[in-house]
Amino acid sequence: MADRKPYVAGNWKMHTTPAEAAKLAQGVVKALECFAACDVALCPPYVCLAAVGDAVRGTSVKLGAQNCHGEIQGAFTGEVSAPMLKAVGVTTVILGHSERRQFFGETDAGVHARLKGVLAEGLEAIVCVGETLEQRQQNITKDVVGHQVRAAFNGFTAAQMATVTVAYEPVWAIGTGLTASPAQAQEVHAFIRGMLIQQFGPDAAAAMRIQYGGSVKPNNAKELFSQPDIDGGLIGGASLKVEDFVAIVKAGA
Ligand code: 13P
Repeated sequence: MADRKPYVAGNWKMHTTPAEAAKLAQGVVKALECFAACDVALCPPYVCLAAVGDAVRGTSVKLGAQNCHGEIQGAFTGEVSAPMLKAVGVTTVILGHSERRQFFGETDAGVHARLKGVLAEGLEAIVCVGETLEQRQQNITKDVVGHQVRAAFNGFTAAQMATVTVAYEPVWAIGTGLTASPAQAQEVHAFIRGMLIQQFGPDAAAAMRIQYGGSVKPNNAKELFSQPDIDGGLIGGASLKVEDFVAIVKAGA
């Protein structure tokens, strides 16, 4: 894993009320007291940010959002902006999740614009890429992921990329219980690292973390995270249970 610090983020998706979120976050914080071997972020729904923010305040656990508009403000019903997220204590934002792309029509250009807004505000980002099952079967995984990476990051500087994490999440592995094998995941992670080297040079690329996401569980996390280019994970379902999430975080150490 070179000397990159592993990074595990919980994407709670559309789960938890503020009261449930507070309880879950408090459980994670308590279980990870004195644990510093891995960076950790919790990304609850927008309406739970305040509750989770209270729970993580003063700890090293980051408060993350699940999306963010690229503009600062404006007539964009249903959207929130980076300054708004920052004002409630968010320090990192997930962008381009496949569910946003699949169900809400987000495009590569949109992900790029959103990333611009996030970085302009000094927030960190976790940018998701990944192929569908059909694309994998057609043997175009690298074309698809390569295009997503280029489109998202085109025009940014190596210095800006210091606060960006990539999450490789094969769509066919999300919520299905079908995890990419460590070798399958490593192959794509190494490919992504190669693209980052081309775009930003070897030093910036070596420092960037690439998380794996898609049915990561306590029983498969260690093997996935021990691959040379896998620097932790973006966790969906298993991040909703304190014990499972904490076990996955500890597998990153
Ligand atoms: P699961 O861990 O539930 O497969 O979800 C992965 C994911 O989409 C995280 O962003």
